[in-house]
Amino acid sequence: KVYAEQYRPQFHFSPPEKWMNDPNGLVYNEGTYHLFYQYYPDDIVWGPMHWGHAISKDMVHWEHKPIALFPDEHGLIFSGSAVVDKENTSGFGADTEVPLVAIFTYHSMEGEKAGEKDFQTQGIAYSLDNGETWVKYEGNPVIGNKGIKDFRDPKVFWHEESQNWILALVAGDHAKFYKSSDLKDWKYLSDFGKGQGAHGGVWECPDLFPLKVEGSDEEKWVLIISINPGAPNGGSGTQYFIGEFDGKKFTSDQKEAKWLDFGTDNYAGVTYNNAPNEERIFIGWMSNWDYARNTPTKKWRSAMTVPRRLSLRKMEGDYMLVNYPLEQVDKLTSDVLESGINVPAGVSKTLNVNGLNQSQLNFTTESKDFKLVFTNHLNETLAFTMDSKNNAIILDRMNSGKTGFQSEFGNKKHHMPTGNLGNASYEVKVLLDWSSIEIFVDNGLYVMTDQVFPTEPYDKLIIENLDNKSAIKNVLIKRMESVW
Ligand code: FRU
Repeated sequence: KVYAEQYRPQFHFSPPEKWMNDPNGLVYNEGTYHLFYQYYPDDIVWGPMHWGHAISKDMVHWEHKPIALFPDEHGLIFSGSAVVDKENTSGFGADTEVPLVAIFTYHSMEGEKAGEKDFQTQGIAYSLDNGETWVKYEGNPVIGNKGIKDFRDPKVFWHEESQNWILALVAGDHAKFYKSSDLKDWKYLSDFGKGQGAHGGVWECPDLFPLKVEGSDEEKWVLIISINPGAPNGGSGTQYFIGEFDGKKFTSDQKEAKWLDFGTDNYAGVTYNNAPNEERIFIGWMSNWDYARNTPTKKWRSAMTVPRRLSLRKMEGDYMLVNYPLEQVDKLTSDVLESGINVPAGVSKTLNVNGLNQSQLNFTTESKDFKLVFTNHLNETLAFTMDSKNNAIILDRMNSGKTGFQSEFGNKKHHMPTGNLGNASYEVKVLLDWSSIEIFVDNGLYVMTDQVFPTEPYDKLIIENLDNKSAIKNVLIKRMESVW
């Protein structure tokens, strides 16, 4: 196997070597899904940023490509997005080629060191060969900085109604929107966010898009904002707002933050531009700035979440953003490791499952109280508890293996409020890879993503059904194929 180091994810994207953070420039073009990412090719800690690059036909099998964007005289290449300029509005396209245009933040280290405030600006680059080679625009930067210290992470999309490109970026404690007809000249439109949502840290990596409500034609606009620190379980996290966007201004239906994932390891996630069938596909960075630089891998650092489809669910008049793995992830399942396992109310079952640490586990139940413990012969435990008394899901990695590399990693349990699940049955899906767990309850309504570093792979599962009447039936565990 090519990538077989300890903790190397086998069905999540990770760079061949060295440091990675945010996904960037997620765009689909002519049969290819592009994944660019914040990349430092010289070390396994954060350093001068480049855009790494990989391509895929299905978003689970990736081909690593050469670095796409290198730092230049304007600075390092921070996070941003990419669009397919179908009408050649930028004029970068020659007669036959449709340009891909990347929009990113330049970060000037000199400016930062000199104590200036205007060291982050926005630049663009284009490719005429579907992302193979890139040319920086000679007129960069296209958005200058008037003295805002944190001014970054542009997300651009084509806004059909106003026939403009719209750009969202973040400026410390709020988002700013701009418009353009050619991706070069940008006109400021509006601000959003002061006094709304969570403000425990700086806002990062915005994304703005329309989304249909499940089972109806109703459409709402969703604004995703990452924040660091200030997430519900500490450090970095991703909040979202649901509301309206009229081509100039975003207005939110809610004042309080809602969170896309209550685990500690899903950050800076954004969605694909130009995905087929108007799908909204999200990928997040599976780490947290609290300890991202300290995790116990040597050759590379960190991975991405599995690709997840976003949708909107209307519940008691409120809209919730749902995220759930694509069918392509399901297609990676192979051997059945366990099937038809039944755990009656009040009963606990222990299963020895060779291959558990690279698997997908599924069941549908009415039980509102249970505990799943993933463990090994060293008695390291990763525990996921459904707790109806407290209306919460609790993920406990405090004794999950290596935790001491940084004090924030294993110092507390992670909680997610579930509201009231009601009496109906609901689905539970768990994806376990060599250094991560992703939990999806009720088809992606409640989601938690955490990194874990067991000393030896988990090969035993304890299912404790603490409910006093409902059984857990037909537990199915399947091996996941390696994508490498
Ligand atoms: C988010 C972030 C972005 C920035 C990038 C730098 O994780 O801080 O705001 O553009 O990482 O690597």
